[in-house]
Amino acid sequence: MADLVTIMRISVTLLQYDHGIVRQVLDVIGEIVRTHRTSKHMAEMKEMIDFLEQFLDRFHHAKEEKFFFPAALEECPKMTETMNRLVEEHRQARRMIVMALDAVASGDVSKVEERSRELVEHMTRHITEEENHVFPAVENDLREDTDLRIREQYDHFMEEGFGSDYYQTAEAFANEIQDRVLGAGFFKGIA
Ligand SMILES: [Fe+2]
Ligand SMILES: [Fe+2]
Repeated sequence: MADLVTIMRISVTLLQYDHGIVRQVLDVIGEIVRTHRTSKHMAEMKEMIDFLEQFLDRFHHAKEEKFFFPAALEECPKMTETMNRLVEEHRQARRMIVMALDAVASGDVSKVEERSRELVEHMTRHITEEENHVFPAVENDLREDTDLRIREQYDHFMEEGFGSDYYQTAEAFANEIQDRVLGAGFFKGIA
């Protein structure tokens, strides 16, 4: 039975929690673009891309790059090449966020749609790879004391730069913007 035990690590669970919030916001952006309602929701598009600039780029990607990946590389070196590529994908995501914000500032609706679609596709692919391939491999190899150390580093990083209630603030933003743009319970209705 030992091989059926799933190892869970808090440093991974917290990254998955971030992913849930990011996906929720990406889904709202994707739905606006898919249904061609971008011109009606330019202000909300800006709010969501600004949110991604902070929560995804400055917070989530920074946690992966500063704390999780370096520790994981030591204890799970077979993922080195993959993690180097993931870091490059973070750089791409940052460039895409900047371009999407430029498009919003220019008021060009079709450009906003194009940039947003690219960003949603890029991040959906990236998150899916981390969730399905990278996290399970690292979780299997990561020592418990390392896991707890990373968690402390995340907490310190958050408290210093974002406030100790940042998870709650970010989750509340994702729920509120989803309800405001799509109506309460939208994704539950189509699930
Ligand atoms: Fe990542
Ligand atoms: Fe991630």
